[in-house]
Amino acid sequence: MDNRSIGVFDSGLGGLTTVKELKELLPHEDIVYFGDTSRVPYGSRSRDTIIKYAKQDIRFLTGHNVKMIIIACGTVSSVLPEEVAGSFGIPIIRVLNPAAQAACAVNRDGAIGVIGTQATVRSGAYGKAIRSIKPTARVIGKACPLFVPLVENGFLGPDNQVTRLVAEGYLNDIKKENIDTVIMGCTHYPLLYDVISDILGSEITLIDAGRETAHFAAATLKSMGLMNEDTARAGRAEYYVSDRIDDFSEIAARFLGSSIKGDVSTIDI
Ligand code: SIN
Repeated sequence: MDNRSIGVFDSGLGGLTTVKELKELLPHEDIVYFGDTSRVPYGSRSRDTIIKYAKQDIRFLTGHNVKMIIIACGTVSSVLPEEVAGSFGIPIIRVLNPAAQAACAVNRDGAIGVIGTQATVRSGAYGKAIRSIKPTARVIGKACPLFVPLVENGFLGPDNQVTRLVAEGYLNDIKKENIDTVIMGCTHYPLLYDVISDILGSEITLIDAGRETAHFAAATLKSMGLMNEDTARAGRAEYYVSDRIDDFSEIAARFLGSSIKGDVSTIDI
């Protein structure tokens, strides 16, 4: 049993999709979230820069004495070398393998599409994770670089015409590839779920990498005996960002369904 918090980080708002799921699965656990809002997006940056940012984000969370870190960022999950992630002395969970497992479980005869940032698609990491489970899988990657700025700027909702136009441009391309499963390989994308699923259609199963990872993290905590023993209390969440609080708080509240304003602080990473 371990009453320390779970650390979660992302380049910005996207990791909240994982937090939302974690809160439901593990209502007694405390969470420390970091969103690197002054440096988002990570996905258009070089590998070295992404690794540098990731190490700083991890150090910030280990400074809060967390018992586990969830890398709720598809880009960092794809790029950060295993030996770096393994050097911090606590379990560090990335979104790749849980999403790949879920995709392989539902994939039929068609290809598996992976939508993500440029860095994620360039890394080929999802393809590797998928083929380690299902060697015959055909994997089609598609970078959707405008999705993250659209989410961070609140261009959400099924009726947002700008988002729809951008999404059609990206997704109509991969629809031609006979895919039956698509991994949303960036945790920002579930905030655009309505538009993405509407364009892809009901024949294509959408996998939410952040949600799958929350389930995997919960199972890992249980199997490692790291659950919070105080089940009489509700877990608390603290949120840290590296830029303005107001924009983050507003979109986060809309997404999480309750105000988090008093729980958000700005830090200098
Ligand atoms: C980004 O910062 O570009 C998106 C983060 C992600 O890949 O989940």
